[in-house]
Amino acid sequence: MYDTKNRENDIDLIHQEHAEFIQIFDALHASIFSKEKQTAKYHILSFIEDVVMNHMKREENIMQKIDFPEYNHHLAEHKALRNHLHSLRLSWDETENESQLEILSNLRGCFIAHTRCTDLKFIEYYSQI
Ligand SMILES: [Fe+2]
Repeated sequence: MYDTKNRENDIDLIHQEHAEFIQIFDALHASIFSKEKQTAKYHILSFIEDVVMNHMKREENIMQKIDFPEYNHHLAEHKALRNHLHSLRLSWDETENESQLEILSNLRGCFIAHTRCTDLKFIEYYSQI
């Protein structure tokens, strides 16, 4: 049995951060054709990466703590998203605007799919133990 208050806080934070990711993705998307300097966009992307890394690490720690049965599958998706994000950040400065939009929109879709499917399974499991 887990502390109910801690569990509620964990779940609230996960939902809150998922919503923030989408806002950050949208801000980056909007900045691509703005007059903002390329380095600023790169910093936004670095920020996304840092925030996402911390978020995923927190989810993984909880999953390990509660012995989540689908941990390995979830971890594999996190690794794929991390790698995708990392390579996007590394190639950002050499990528044309049109390609950036396409890559970003694809990555945003992958994040949404992950949060609505894989994360939801984990949250449902965590809510019921
Ligand atoms: Fe996740």
